[in-house]
Amino acid sequence: MTNIDQDTVDTQRRPTGMTGMAGGGFYDSNSAPQWEQIAAVLPWLEDTLSSLPLERGSGPVTFADFGCSEGRNSISVMRHLISNTNQLTDRPFLTIHSDLPTNDYSKLFLGLRPDGQSAFGSQRVSSAAIGGSMYDQLLPPNSIHVATTFNSIGYLSERPLDKLPGYVLPNGPSKRRANGFVTDSESQIFARQAEDDMAAFLTARANELISGGKLLVQVFGCTDEMRTCDGLFDLLNDAVQAHVELGDISSQVYERYYQPVYFRSLDELTSPLTNSAYNLVDLYTLDRTESYEVPVPFVETYKQDKDLDRYATNYVNFFRAFTQAVLRGALPDTPSKPDLLNQIYKTAETLLKANPEDYPFRNISVAMLLTRK
Ligand SMILES: C[S@@+](CC[C@H](N)C(=O)[O-])C[C@H]1O[C@@H](n2cnc3c(N)ncnc32)[C@H](O)[C@@H]1O
Repeated sequence: MTNIDQDTVDTQRRPTGMTGMAGGGFYDSNSAPQWEQIAAVLPWLEDTLSSLPLERGSGPVTFADFGCSEGRNSISVMRHLISNTNQLTDRPFLTIHSDLPTNDYSKLFLGLRPDGQSAFGSQRVSSAAIGGSMYDQLLPPNSIHVATTFNSIGYLSERPLDKLPGYVLPNGPSKRRANGFVTDSESQIFARQAEDDMAAFLTARANELISGGKLLVQVFGCTDEMRTCDGLFDLLNDAVQAHVELGDISSQVYERYYQPVYFRSLDELTSPLTNSAYNLVDLYTLDRTESYEVPVPFVETYKQDKDLDRYATNYVNFFRAFTQAVLRGALPDTPSKPDLLNQIYKTAETLLKANPEDYPFRNISVAMLLTRK
């Protein structure tokens, strides 16, 4: 038997440290931009609901949303799907809301049964939550009519590198600011991880969807000209770096810290479907794809009222909601950690107010609609 030198074989699986969004209602209160992204593509799905094979099978018509977070947007999606389908069948409905086991589900459950009644206003609708990674099969084979995921598939299933010394995000800094670096070989490793994740997601959903079932995948992304990450992560990087310079964060902690999130192009979203390594070609038809930009509510308000304080608070709260959990996990456990975390986001507000033009935020999405063959 040959001895393999373990130092040269990187087989370690590194958890992402992603435990969910900031909970306690914070994500729900700061996710209006995500709703704009969802609302732009939801009609794609609504247009196809009449072709669902609802006469086949028995039991509930089941809709599942992956990456539901605290549920406000996920429940709104289901409301749209049910109101477009309930005239088409007498069958009961089941809505399934899924996220990581560590997600804060308390708002979701309250949102699903406000005043002790279904949020969908009908006894025909039951709802359930399932904790688990969307890269695994979570539901019985052949049980789902429609699956959706919004603003979630960019979260990598694992950290493919232990360190990213030059920046806080695998996609690297904006060209304009260039306030850090990610090497080509680092970029390739993250792109590969994102492709493997997409393939794992599509494989898992293919097992769960009925033949003729629909899958809508939308996520924050980039085009050749614009990337959603540019202003946001340049700002987070600058804020964290400011605390490295102050001596609050060591350079070793900075080098190990990155958000395990990947912003895809449309080609990267769809490429696993045609990559023969993943065996997905026979499982889906690709009905529609698009990359698109939606206006950001707090940016539009700022253009009108020029209230920089309000803009900075809304901007920073928006990205705090989805970056805080990983940043907290990356900082050493000391009694001052909660203060340091607050200070980093406060510094981000100060930097943004000093130079708002350095941190433009454009909200680009990529999306695809698929049918299970
Ligand atoms: C930005 S939120 C999106 C929430 C909601 N879909 C929306 O668009 O407003 C991303 C969600 O993806 C979840 N997430 C990240 N990795 C995941 C995984 N491997 N499996 C399931 N959910 C995951 C996070 O916990 C978080 O709730």
